[in-house]
Amino acid sequence: MRDWTVLGIETSCDETAAAVVRGRAPGPGTILSNIVFSQLDAHRPYGGVVPEIAARAHVERLDGIVEEALSQANVTLADLDAVAATAGPGLIGGVMVGLTTAKALALATGKPLVAVNHLEAHALTARLTDGAAFPFLLLLISGGHCQLLGVAGVGQFRLYGTTIDDAVGEAFDKTAKLLGLPYPGGPSVEKTASGGDLKRYKLPRPMRGRAGADFSFSGLKTAVRQIVQAGNVNTADVAAAFQAAVLDILSDRTRAAMAMFRDDFPDTANPDFVLAGGVASNHAIRAALTELGSREGFQTKIPPPGLCTDNAAMVAWAGVERGQLGLFDGLGTAPKARWPLDAHVGGRLARPETVGS
Ligand code: KG4
Ligand code: ZN
Repeated sequence: MRDWTVLGIETSCDETAAAVVRGRAPGPGTILSNIVFSQLDAHRPYGGVVPEIAARAHVERLDGIVEEALSQANVTLADLDAVAATAGPGLIGGVMVGLTTAKALALATGKPLVAVNHLEAHALTARLTDGAAFPFLLLLISGGHCQLLGVAGVGQFRLYGTTIDDAVGEAFDKTAKLLGLPYPGGPSVEKTASGGDLKRYKLPRPMRGRAGADFSFSGLKTAVRQIVQAGNVNTADVAAAFQAAVLDILSDRTRAAMAMFRDDFPDTANPDFVLAGGVASNHAIRAALTELGSREGFQTKIPPPGLCTDNAAMVAWAGVERGQLGLFDGLGTAPKARWPLDAHVGGRLARPETVGS
């Protein structure tokens, strides 16, 4: 298979992004351009993402960002092998903007469309950056998700564990709010924690040691709230204690999933262990899980922080991988607010659809 050049579009949350990537499976590939316009300033006054503001900002910005991505990559639409866009899960208004734009480009140029699952795009990023090999164990930690999955191939996921309440990014964001730290929460908790004493406050480790590999974070959040409500808190120490608890929980649940993965794929020597999603940009988490990986005989592969948080290079790469397998999507493809990974992302090798079908 020759290298493919794919345009990717990402608009599922509060980043308006377009990128051009070149390569072929299993990677690594080359990022020719990667434009991310963060809407942080528009949402900051509200302390969270406002869906209507996000959708409007995507509409206003996306055309220019696509043009910028193409010109920085020094390619034209005619050079593309496919156009890829996030089709879900995410804020539906934003997903509609990106997917509709991709459909319009596909229709106008006759290039095939790839409708990408945002979570699969996160999952495959370590192949773009490090050529991670199937099957690998994936810890997906983002604002909306916290899951451990075995990834056997494109569209082939086996769920080992998931959160039974909050996602880990959500726990970071809520803790930041409780502590009065600035939006967005994850990076501010990390920064504040680095100056704190992680032993001063005792926090629970929900689910640690339990059978299976599920997570729970709501008890942790409640414990933080109780400490804050008791008054007179040292913010840095609470942030450090919170981050230490998250590290322990993630390490314990990942160790359990590593055993499940070994049972599923006994013939895979030195399997890859991949971290993905916005929370994987946290340096303490990266370090702790890399250490766990090497103790357990896994090769840990984590994309650089800027490719862990939302971006379009990961969407373009998912477009390369799916497109090269003939997994195209028709122009009638609907955007999806919910689209879980273990529902297989259209898992079976679907009959390739041609543009316009
Ligand atoms: O993957 P992502 O950019 O968007 C989703 O698909 O959800 O993840 C965003 C989440 C937010 O909850 C944010 O607070 C968290 O990732 N996050 C972090 C860090 N950077 C972003 N959490 C902890 N430490 C960080 N450095
Ligand atoms: Zn994401």
